[in-house]
Amino acid sequence: MRLGILVSGRGSNLGAVLDAAARGDLPGVEAVIVISNRPGVPALKVAERHGVPVVVLARRDFAGPEARDAAIGSRLRLAGVEVALLAGYDQVLRPTYFAAFDGMTLNIHPSLLPAHGGAGMIGMAVHCSVLAAGDRETGVTVHAVSAELDAGPPRLQARVPVHPDDSPETLAARVLEVEHRVVVEAIAALAAERERGPSSATMAVAPESVPPDAAARE
Ligand code: GAR
Repeated sequence: MRLGILVSGRGSNLGAVLDAAARGDLPGVEAVIVISNRPGVPALKVAERHGVPVVVLARRDFAGPEARDAAIGSRLRLAGVEVALLAGYDQVLRPTYFAAFDGMTLNIHPSLLPAHGGAGMIGMAVHCSVLAAGDRETGVTVHAVSAELDAGPPRLQARVPVHPDDSPETLAARVLEVEHRVVVEAIAALAAERERGPSSATMAVAPESVPPDAAARE
């Protein structure tokens, strides 16, 4: 399963996936390209360290977001990508992306979607929203991406407790640890499912699991 990964920043989920592949925990999965919409971000170094080719497609190099998103989709297609993973990618993908790339796109989101998803819900904003709501648990969702924000069907969810004395930072750290495990599990499950054939597409459930990004401006 040829995997492409879209990033915008730190790249810890990217690192978790590439480390797992290097350990042999993702049989049949090959990371073939990493695309960033931001130059100079740490995620690019993570990819380089693992020898995965990187491409930067910055908004300023295109007439508009539609053209940039078409370019992202084309690069994925040219690289022979079958599954694209949004790993901290901080922009909504426009329809031009889905027109150019017809493989599956997955996103990792740091809450139990549909809770705390949608416009502006990225990274720390998600954890602030969970604490402001007084939720006693949050979690991680890996879901298929459709043109509608944070609305594609979930493939894997895992619960994470919220502690009474949590700050956004302590909660983010607890959730991130689970993200790193769940994103690898979701990719491994998808690869195994594709190996078995198309009929086995069901939502996987982690042991402790419960059955747009209009995001940051560039
Ligand atoms: C992760 O927590 C990821 O779930 C979140 O951004 C962070 C990126 O960290 N994504 C979203 O909020 C998507 N709506 P990373 O760059 O270290 O993987």
